[in-house]
Amino acid sequence: MARVLVTRRLPDGGTDPLLAAGHEIVGRDDDTPFTPAELVDAVRDVDAVVCLLTDRIDDAVLAAGADRLRVVANVAVGYDNVDVTAAHARGIAVCNTPGVLDETTADLAFLLMLAAARLAHEAEADLREDRWHGWGINQYLGRDVHGATLGLVGYGRIGRAVARRATGFGMSVLHHTRTDTGEPGHVGDLHRLLADADIVSIHVPLTDATRGLIGRDELAAMRPHAVLVNTARGPVVDEGALADALADGTIFAAGIDVFEREPEVHPKLLAAPRAVLLPHIGSASVATRTRMARVACDGVVAVLAGSTPSNLVAAG
Ligand code: NAP
Ligand code: GLV
Repeated sequence: MARVLVTRRLPDGGTDPLLAAGHEIVGRDDDTPFTPAELVDAVRDVDAVVCLLTDRIDDAVLAAGADRLRVVANVAVGYDNVDVTAAHARGIAVCNTPGVLDETTADLAFLLMLAAARLAHEAEADLREDRWHGWGINQYLGRDVHGATLGLVGYGRIGRAVARRATGFGMSVLHHTRTDTGEPGHVGDLHRLLADADIVSIHVPLTDATRGLIGRDELAAMRPHAVLVNTARGPVVDEGALADALADGTIFAAGIDVFEREPEVHPKLLAAPRAVLLPHIGSASVATRTRMARVACDGVVAVLAGSTPSNLVAAG
């Protein structure tokens, strides 16, 4: 029997794989997050850690656990909160949750696209706050999503799930990745894709190469009627530059689920017009969050049993 630290309370049934394998789960009775110092203490006598994207698993944490720790499983597909290089250098495996949240996250990207393009948020706020006094032919004039050209930045699991939805909306789909997919719609030059799209949706992981990928110059390359959607990671987009681009009409609207310094949101972005802002809920459905927890725990069980799980993060 191994000891597994589960840093936060998971959805019901999420830890079933650990229990079925007979492992002991340790953690807090309440659901308060560990501070970095508390996390360093908590990993000292465990064989595995199941953590969330809000836990920073840096080399200080990995070093504290190094005598015993064999695997860190992040209940998220993005693992930029885990120092994978340091983990591998210490012989610690890292797992994530690829594939089980694609459809739910793609749904949210579409929700943001539709809400931002059709000004749903502003219109609803007016209705609720008694500023709507009847139908008007020039009110709340948004941009059509159907028939638009969609530019996907990143065309992996989630980008492709968004593309599948776009087909139903009669959209033309372009995609940008570093490696040529060899598929119709691939655009090697990011600025070309930004200039040709009516809606741009971001689906890249956060890495050194994607940090700040969409900055002032990239926003300037977009069309004035364009909509930007980000369900990837906040630091991929320069939030200050995005707020300015919305305020001065460089682009039309934005739908944003992730932020540079969560849970803080840039005050200029909060004040910007035509911005739909959601609190990082891309994968937040009961079924998907439960699956994510189970997949992460499955990875732990496999590594502790000496096998190679399919959700093992490869060495960079
Ligand atoms: P994935 O399958 O690994 O796809 C990533 C795509 O990004 C690939 O097409 C990759 O192609 C491309 N890419 C990587 N680096 C790039 C760069 N520098 N320039 C251009 N393209 C680049 O990942 P996924 O499962 O779709 O997930 C994507 C990200 O979404 C996750 O890492 C996570 O951060 C985020 N996410 C957020 C939520 C949420 O709740 N909002 C939910 C799930 C996931 P190349 O390698 O060929 O460039
Ligand atoms: C959520 O943001 C994830 O990466 O799964």
